[in-house]
Amino acid sequence: MPTPSQLADALEDRMSHQLDQLVVKSVLFTSGERDPTQPRPNAMSSAEGRTFLMGPDPRLPRMPQRPTLMDFFKYRFAPAAHLLQSARLGLKNGYDEKVVFACLLHDIANLGFIRCDHGYWGAQLIEPYVDEEVSWAVRAHQTLRFFPDPSVGYEYPEMYIRLFGADFVPEPHVKEAYRRYRGHKWYMTARLITVNDLYSFDPNVVVNLEDFTDIIGRNFRQPEEGLGFDDSPSAHMWRTINMPTRFL
Ligand SMILES: [Fe+2]
Ligand SMILES: [Fe+2]
Repeated sequence: MPTPSQLADALEDRMSHQLDQLVVKSVLFTSGERDPTQPRPNAMSSAEGRTFLMGPDPRLPRMPQRPTLMDFFKYRFAPAAHLLQSARLGLKNGYDEKVVFACLLHDIANLGFIRCDHGYWGAQLIEPYVDEEVSWAVRAHQTLRFFPDPSVGYEYPEMYIRLFGADFVPEPHVKEAYRRYRGHKWYMTARLITVNDLYSFDPNVVVNLEDFTDIIGRNFRQPEEGLGFDDSPSAHMWRTINMPTRFL
């Protein structure tokens, strides 16, 4: 009887064989299902005369040569309904453009990159291209989600009890981060992300990414070379989202 990890290897092998080149997933993609300290059967040893993929993954929508933030929304984060709905709510609530823009970007990491510590990854991704207050707020919203603030009517989310259990408590480093964020001059910007961060949406409301073209244009410094090819401190992260299965 094959173990789940052997089954996963076999599946990966089969999928890879349907392509012209060999595809090997990063350890992070499989860690947990597979013990990362155990040898991986198809890395390095079974190339069988074929080369490993070193560019775009043919199974993914191809991105333009100079991808913009809009392109990442379309080809990697779509449908991004949660982000669009949060930003729409921000607009409806009359918050200023910076807050609306922060709402639009607040969960790009869990939609398109890495879930755990998504606020931090998301902030790091956008940091070189946005106002410092926006990336600060995206980073902090992850922590603030766990702590109520009656001054703006924010309660601990009912949904978290369902998702994490009634006995879940944030780790000590999260409580410590909360203490620091609480006294920060941009606390309210991050807090307003959490106020607009709802998960129970009206499914009949459709929000178009294009509705935010101008807000993105005014608040995101799109690099001319394209996101990922611009040598910013987070360019490699955008490249990885664009081409997540390159061998190196
Ligand atoms: Fe979030
Ligand atoms: Fe969210």
